[in-house]
Amino acid sequence: MDGPIAIILAAGHGKRMKSEKAKVLHEVCGQPMIHYVVDAVRGAGAKTIVVVVGFAADQVRDALADEPDILFATQERQLGTGDAVKACKPVVKDYRGPALIVVGDEPLLRPQPLADLLHQQQAGRLACLMGTAELPDPTGFGRILRDSAGRFLRIVEQRDCNAKEAAIREVNPSCYVFQLPELWEALDRLKTENAQHEYYLTDAPTLLQEMGQRVEAVKVLDADDVLGINARGHLAEAHALMQSRIQNALMDAGVSIVDPRSTYIDARARVGQDTVIHPFTVVNGSVTIGRGCTVGPFAHLRDGTILEDDAEVGAFVQVSRSTLGSGSIARHLAYLGDAQLGPGVNVGAGAITANFDGVTKHPTRVGARASLGAGSVLIAPVVVGDGATVGAGAVVTKESTVAPGATVVGVPARPLRRKVTP
Ligand code: UD1
Ligand code: CA
Repeated sequence: MDGPIAIILAAGHGKRMKSEKAKVLHEVCGQPMIHYVVDAVRGAGAKTIVVVVGFAADQVRDALADEPDILFATQERQLGTGDAVKACKPVVKDYRGPALIVVGDEPLLRPQPLADLLHQQQAGRLACLMGTAELPDPTGFGRILRDSAGRFLRIVEQRDCNAKEAAIREVNPSCYVFQLPELWEALDRLKTENAQHEYYLTDAPTLLQEMGQRVEAVKVLDADDVLGINARGHLAEAHALMQSRIQNALMDAGVSIVDPRSTYIDARARVGQDTVIHPFTVVNGSVTIGRGCTVGPFAHLRDGTILEDDAEVGAFVQVSRSTLGSGSIARHLAYLGDAQLGPGVNVGAGAITANFDGVTKHPTRVGARASLGAGSVLIAPVVVGDGATVGAGAVVTKESTVAPGATVVGVPARPLRRKVTP
């Protein structure tokens, strides 16, 4: 097994979410939160990732099925975080080396502090190195206790804190690097003498110290990184923080976002340089926007949308599973679903692709430089040839496929016959 390895704890129910769904599958900016954690440990250098599943295990496995570097360990009963790590033993077998251990409900973790932890644990030959954070409000987290010389003593869970301990603001965000196999022995010594009667991973560092091993705790994490999702309110907070990270990264890469607060951009979206996104734009799902595009105000781009360079999508236009070729324009009040538009197409106000017949979705193809008139309806499947014109209010059905260069008008649409004057 290639190291370093990472272990992500994701077997818990997350009762405070009040949900049928596994907590780690709740979405932040369009992605299940566990995806962010996987990206963070991968970015920190983990070569093999073990995800501990339990509650709704099949859902979590399915959500991560396409990731070749992920293995699963099953924790049959949720007896605590220490027990969850123990469930990995048969999966990691004889691996010797560092194991980065994190929890699946902290989607804002970034790779850099985790990479630092791995590095420092190896450099210091430590049996355990914990990353900690100092928070203005430590509520909900385990607290870090140190001696008068500042050396790590132990972690006390919020539920087990006395008043003095509860006032400590240095917390345990559950980002640890443990050396294997040393950790296994400490886990075998865990007891359940605590408020929840669970096997706490948080007791393992102190047990290692008692076994004569070296353990340290360093403050390498920011408040933003360690937001734990235990209830729906936290989910909304995480969403807001992640959204500003996504938008800041795009702005740093040369995208203009006129009003970040009224704009929503999915984590999976890609946006090219010199594109301008106007207020009240929503970008959902895997969407690719090229360079020099203009989007919004009030545009809704959904999963599978591709805007090629210099395309323009304006007010009250919804695009779904569709491509607008370069320089194509849908400036107002249009719906494009399952449509492939060539370059330079003009979509008039109120033009609609009727892609759904009540049972199946059908495709629409519109050739280069074609023009769709105001209020026209294309009842898919339908093809509009290059340079063709669909008149305002025309209804194009599959029987009336529009030839290249032709002009069609009326309901149902028919080729326009110009009056020939003798
Ligand atoms: C845990 C820590 C606490 C820390 C906090 C935030 C312990 C005992 N406490 O508390 O010190 O400040 O995280 O990082 O570790 N899980 C399992 N199996 C279980 C129990 C939990 O896989 O039997 C998983 C959960 O799915 C979750 C993670 O472990 O992803 C943390 O569990 P949670 O119940 O949220 O722990 P906290 O009470 O937040
Ligand atoms: Ca938690």
